[in-house]
Amino acid sequence: MPEEQDTAVKVAIAGAGGRLGAALARLYSLHYEVRAFTRPELDLAAPEQLRESLGNTAFDVLINCAAQTNVDRCETEQEEAFAINAIAPGVLADSCNARGARLIHISTDYVFDGGASQPYTEEDEAKPISVYGASKLAGEERVRAAGEQHVVARVSWVFGPDRPSFLDAIIKRAREEEQVEAIADKISTPTYTVDTADLLRPFLDSTTPGGVYHLTNEGACTWQEYGQWGLDCCRREGIPLRAEVVGPLALADMKNFIARRPVYTALSIAKYQQVTGRRPRSWRAAVAAYVRDHLAPRAEV
Ligand SMILES: NC(=O)c1ccc[n+]([C@@H]2O[C@H](COP(=O)([O-])OP(=O)(O)OC[C@H]3O[C@@H](n4cnc5c(N)ncnc54)[C@H](OP(=O)(O)O)[C@@H]3O)[C@@H](O)[C@H]2O)c1
Repeated sequence: MPEEQDTAVKVAIAGAGGRLGAALARLYSLHYEVRAFTRPELDLAAPEQLRESLGNTAFDVLINCAAQTNVDRCETEQEEAFAINAIAPGVLADSCNARGARLIHISTDYVFDGGASQPYTEEDEAKPISVYGASKLAGEERVRAAGEQHVVARVSWVFGPDRPSFLDAIIKRAREEEQVEAIADKISTPTYTVDTADLLRPFLDSTTPGGVYHLTNEGACTWQEYGQWGLDCCRREGIPLRAEVVGPLALADMKNFIARRPVYTALSIAKYQQVTGRRPRSWRAAVAAYVRDHLAPRAEV
């Protein structure tokens, strides 16, 4: 999209207090006219408020980053999970239709059952094994039914500077403790919010086709490999650590997990690359950039 057209695009963001939503709000404000809604300003559990607030807001594209993302809570609070993750996206899509706008709805690798041994494509059947996954899939279906111009972008293992994630937790532990572990038999792909902001930009142009897209960084890893690479990057950047090796844990040993987690959910990004001509960088390069740009001590100037 040409830079001179960018400021003319009006982007509304739901879930702007979250990890991805806050990154999009911060970064898109540099290029577009942004209206960012945090949860108190736009509650997805209150459909009437949604309709009214969006009805009073001018936008060309609405990006929905809001979700009930606590996978275990979804298992015990099913009604809430479906209200936020399934019903609300349909209301958002209807609001977009009423003004001829596009909805970009963020979804998840957890719509898959995890039984695959190679990256899932958008054509693969979604068969969630948790309430979270089922509620997110139901949200996708409502968005898709509302019109083919809308975009469903599935991400996984989201990390970035705006809210701590697994990566920050393991680095924090390694700075404080002698021994750290992470699950070694669950595989997916980290998604850097800063990269996602850039990679979603083609969809702000209504000529980029809508539909379902997988949008992560490139490659796949276990949580253990992900954490280990995070620590390796810290060491390289001179961040002091007490633990330098991430030991293995088994998914089956995570007795405090309430919801079932899919074992393998790496996502194929071939469709995204083919449609947009852009290539997400590897998850290792993205983690290295995050540690360098946001965690490493700054040199005195
Ligand atoms: N995190 C991951 O690893 C991951 C993996 C796969 C897919 N995803 C998807 O990526 C998207 C963004 O996730 P994220 O990592 O940015 O998660 P996040 O940090 O938990 O952000 C979710 C945001 O949604 C807000 N929210 C929750 N209930 C709401 C409601 N009723 N009304 C309005 N806002 C509400 C939260 O509000 P508060 O600020 O008050 O908490 C939070 O700001 C979600 O669609 C998620 O399903 C995430």
